[in-house]
Amino acid sequence: MTHGAPGEIVVTREGLSERVREMAAEISADYAGRDLLIIGILKGAVFFTADLVRELTVPCALDFMSVSSYGSATQSSGVVRITKDLDGPIEGRDVLLVEDVIDSGRTLRYLMRNLSARDPASLETCALLSKPAADRLDLRTRYVGFRLPDVFVVGYGLDAGERYRELPYISALP
Ligand code: IMP
Ligand code: MG
Repeated sequence: MTHGAPGEIVVTREGLSERVREMAAEISADYAGRDLLIIGILKGAVFFTADLVRELTVPCALDFMSVSSYGSATQSSGVVRITKDLDGPIEGRDVLLVEDVIDSGRTLRYLMRNLSARDPASLETCALLSKPAADRLDLRTRYVGFRLPDVFVVGYGLDAGERYRELPYISALP
């Protein structure tokens, strides 16, 4: 390791790859014979999405979108804005939305509403991490990698002020 973790490691590199393989197996079984379109949310879900699709045993298409939520650095206001939209329509497609982490759940709730208005054949969500607040929002997340306590984490795509995305593990910020 060339540079240190900012805090305690919450999910190791091996733990990530094992869980990603398990999730990919479940998704592959569920989407066999369907028209799977994976939508990754930039930038946090890039690493997870790239690893996940390489473990799938069913074909898929890939698109990305980028959103930003207004508010302070640590507290999302719930007002979400699309800063990069999808390249193509999703009408009639079996869409799987891939997120890095669900915290308050507001980002995901906004995206679900926005995308379901575009008439996909189906719309499900997959999050690598989920925090306790998300459970209170009544969000049905089809696939969840790890449930975390209410800690701020970085690495494997997740940032703190654009830092630490490159870490190959997930670490808590001290
Ligand atoms: P939500 O709308 O509150 O669910 O916020 C989700 C977004 O906040 C994620 O897509 C991340 O960009 C960011 N976020 C929430 N928790 C963390 C964390 O622990 N580390 C890094 N980013 C986080
Ligand atoms: Mg972020």
